[in-house]
Amino acid sequence: LSYGGKDFELPIVEGTENEKAIDIAKLRAQTGLITLDPGYKNTGSTTSSITYLDGENGILKYRGYKIEDLAEKSSFLEVAYLLIYGDLPTQAQYEKFTSKITTHTLVHEDIKKILDGFPSNSHPMGVLSSLICSLTAFYPESLDPTRNEEAVNLSIIRLLAKIPTFAAWAFKNKVGHPVNYPDNSLDYCSNFLKMMFALPAERYDVDPVVAKALDQLLILHADHEQNCSTSTVRIVGSSQASIYASISAGINALWGPLHGGANQAVIEMLEAIKADGGDTKKYLDKAKDKNDPFRLMGFGHRVYKNFDPRAKIIKKAADDVLAKLGINDPILTIAKELEHAALNDPYFVERNLYPNVDFYSGIIYRALGIPTDMFTVLFAIGRLPGWIAQWKEMRQNGEPIGRPRQIYTGETDREYVSM
Ligand code: MLT
Repeated sequence: LSYGGKDFELPIVEGTENEKAIDIAKLRAQTGLITLDPGYKNTGSTTSSITYLDGENGILKYRGYKIEDLAEKSSFLEVAYLLIYGDLPTQAQYEKFTSKITTHTLVHEDIKKILDGFPSNSHPMGVLSSLICSLTAFYPESLDPTRNEEAVNLSIIRLLAKIPTFAAWAFKNKVGHPVNYPDNSLDYCSNFLKMMFALPAERYDVDPVVAKALDQLLILHADHEQNCSTSTVRIVGSSQASIYASISAGINALWGPLHGGANQAVIEMLEAIKADGGDTKKYLDKAKDKNDPFRLMGFGHRVYKNFDPRAKIIKKAADDVLAKLGINDPILTIAKELEHAALNDPYFVERNLYPNVDFYSGIIYRALGIPTDMFTVLFAIGRLPGWIAQWKEMRQNGEPIGRPRQIYTGETDREYVSM
């Protein structure tokens, strides 16, 4: 290839899609060629060895382990260890890891003062991202980009340990109740649930069915390769910003209704269908209306051209959890009817409109007693290990600062004329 007066050797574009993408990326780097890809829809912005996603065949794996196996056999903290350190922990490693996390669940009392400054109508996601970012002030050594691995590891433990405390406190701020302090005799999810729901002077026993269901939901949300929030964490971290600031930025990216807010939109849609008599056929027909199509929330995914594998697991979990808790939620019936009808309708099948992870997760959260504006906060707790793993990998790879290029479309030369 001759370009700009220079000759370039064309890459051999053979092999897997990944290898081809890497070759093409090398060519772009040599020639300075830029391709327009608004929103990074198809650009491989990084190589990564964390999460494998095959959207054609509906496969999702963390570090080579199938999501189905992890969701059934592991705990959330085992999966967090796997994502962050690359392997499933041995018993001894797991005990050390969980004991370190338990040691750091408390937060500085001054952070409570920051919390008290938030009005009680604050959205818990804004409170969460602010409190996470405030850790840069309480642990200023996190601002030093030359910190060694041990120091970085301590920040990672602090994040995992404190996020349930911040999340529960963001909820307490919203409802105007006093906060609860962590109970380190409990496991990760039980401690979070107790901080969320225990009231002063009242006994609160965590339901093990609820804690287990929450643990599984967190596993299913733990990573999903590059997307809006994850690439935000990587790009902010690429400037050598602190891990706390990078994760806080990821939380803000997740907050948007198109990303983490989708399961809330599903619940609102299902409630609206229920209020309108529960006629799912009417809404499927409306979704096909060429002139004014009704948007079926929780259907389709930018990456999955097949079923979202997380949706299958969540659907089963919704059945199990609601049955175990003795809850008969009419919107679960509406959701299943919508799914069944859509999967048997060529219109939806041809357009790959299958239910995604968000379709059933809100129904379970609701059954667990989690209020709607906490759904995205739960997503953030689940995604935290993935963000951390991605931040750590970016740092270990010594990746350069992210610097997207643009294709200018404005005026070329304009004559300056004084007023
Ligand atoms: C996720 O789990 O992050 C969502 O499915 C969004 C995505 O990956 O695009």
